[in-house]
Amino acid sequence: MPPYAFFKKQFMPLAEAKIGILTHAFHYGTACFEGIRGNWDSEYERFCLFRIRDHYKRMLNGCRLLKISLPYSLDELCQLTVESVERSNYHEDVYIRPMAYKSSEAIGVRLHNLEDDFLIIVTTLPAYLDTQNGVRCGTSSWRRVDDTMIPARGKICGIYVNSALAKTEACENGYDEAILLSHDGHVSEGSGENIFLVIDSKLVTPPSSDNILVGITRDTIMKLAKNELGIDTIERTVDRSELYLAEECFFSGTAAHITPIIEIDHRTIGTGEIGKITAELQKLFSQVILGRNPKYAEWYTLVGK
Ligand SMILES: Cc1ncc(COP(=O)(O)O)c(C=O)c1O
Repeated sequence: MPPYAFFKKQFMPLAEAKIGILTHAFHYGTACFEGIRGNWDSEYERFCLFRIRDHYKRMLNGCRLLKISLPYSLDELCQLTVESVERSNYHEDVYIRPMAYKSSEAIGVRLHNLEDDFLIIVTTLPAYLDTQNGVRCGTSSWRRVDDTMIPARGKICGIYVNSALAKTEACENGYDEAILLSHDGHVSEGSGENIFLVIDSKLVTPPSSDNILVGITRDTIMKLAKNELGIDTIERTVDRSELYLAEECFFSGTAAHITPIIEIDHRTIGTGEIGKITAELQKLFSQVILGRNPKYAEWYTLVGK
């Protein structure tokens, strides 16, 4: 069976799902999306769609910001996603990309008086960053969008030009990933990941008011750290130079999982190896996303046998 998409209110092979070149979202970035992991458990022959309701809650918040109204409830969005995964018939990890978008084929920049639509793509995603060996980062010359420009708490398509500028600048400068500062010079996040520091054996991460996308992996890590390791997370504004002095540093995200950061701006972080707390969190995280731990059952949507 070919990969399936949900598009224009029906399921169809991905290859047949095409948008018109006048589509508003294509011209103006007027859309919001999600990235959801379906983790394949080969032993149980099933997927664990991880925290799907939380992803859709965030997408629906993005819809409110962009004045997009969808004819689907939260439960219906989850059910459409389950069906998309079932029809796609993969037997490996999948990446699910839902998108709510301004679908009118109309020129004119605005949010009002436009039609809205919703689609789901199911695909695979090769390793996004090197979670085993860690990554080298550079502080970006691009600043993270501010809430007064485009609401950074929404996963809004247009924002990703900001991320793309920073990512490509970092790669062209020989790094693996960028770290963006907020307009006032505080640490915000990576181009597609949140960031954590280990300081005095505690986790520190920038607050939502520093223009981060409030990550679902970020929340998962804070809960696992507290419940399983007894480690608190402090959400507070972080200075750039604190990055250089941190005991450990890592990125978190649906695509990035937990990626150790071993170097920033040519300074070694900690020992330059994967830190102890980072490694412990990686281990816990890789288990929990498979959907086998009943303690976290509310995070799991199991699809398959
Ligand atoms: C800009 C940005 N920050 C952070 C994240 C991490 O969020 P999550 O853990 O919900 O995937 C993402 C990924 O969605 C992102 O695109």
